[in-house]
Amino acid sequence: MDGTLSYRWSCRMGVCGSCGMMVNGTPKLTCAAFLRDYYPQEIRVEPLVNFPIIRDLVIDMTDFMEKLKSVKPWIIRKEEKPVSEGEYLQTPAELEAFHQFTQCINCMLCYAACPVYGLEPKFLGPAAIALGYRYNMDSRDQGKDQREIIGNHDGIWDCTFVGECSVVCPKHVDPAAAIQRSKVDVTKNWFQSILMPWGQR
Ligand code: SF4
Ligand code: FES
Repeated sequence: MDGTLSYRWSCRMGVCGSCGMMVNGTPKLTCAAFLRDYYPQEIRVEPLVNFPIIRDLVIDMTDFMEKLKSVKPWIIRKEEKPVSEGEYLQTPAELEAFHQFTQCINCMLCYAACPVYGLEPKFLGPAAIALGYRYNMDSRDQGKDQREIIGNHDGIWDCTFVGECSVVCPKHVDPAAAIQRSKVDVTKNWFQSILMPWGQR
């Protein structure tokens, strides 16, 4: 009703990830937060925490965008085969290994819920790590060694497993699981590189 109020939205159906805000202190997609679920409580809507505010309810997402780019969220091939040789085939089990992590809509609710990101802005954060993990787990990808940023100090090792990222995620991506699994993966690779320095990691 107040035409001077600035806020972001696009799809109004929980798909685009633009409308994240704090609703009564909890990060929510506001297009999927219904008044009936709060009535007769008062409702307080605020900009997502842990991000700089541009104006009113609009936050600056530059940091998240840079972090997303840094994990190279696309399929990397060492050798591309010609299109004439057909697709890179994948079994249902291979798809299942990463499918859950493809559901991210980049809404940044997990960053607003993460106390580590709030204290340590250099932390790569839940969604960026989950997306990097998604490509690392894709049987068509060969670019794991180009996503070493995930295993750096400001990557998975900053996470203290609070788990709120997974609680607030509207798409059930479970970024906390991606982070913990990445910790196991990176540790295994490190031991292999010590025990078999000549071998391939
Ligand atoms: S992991 Fe979930 S909460 Fe985080 S950006 Fe993706 S969809 Fe949003
Ligand atoms: S407006 Fe697109 S997710 Fe809410």
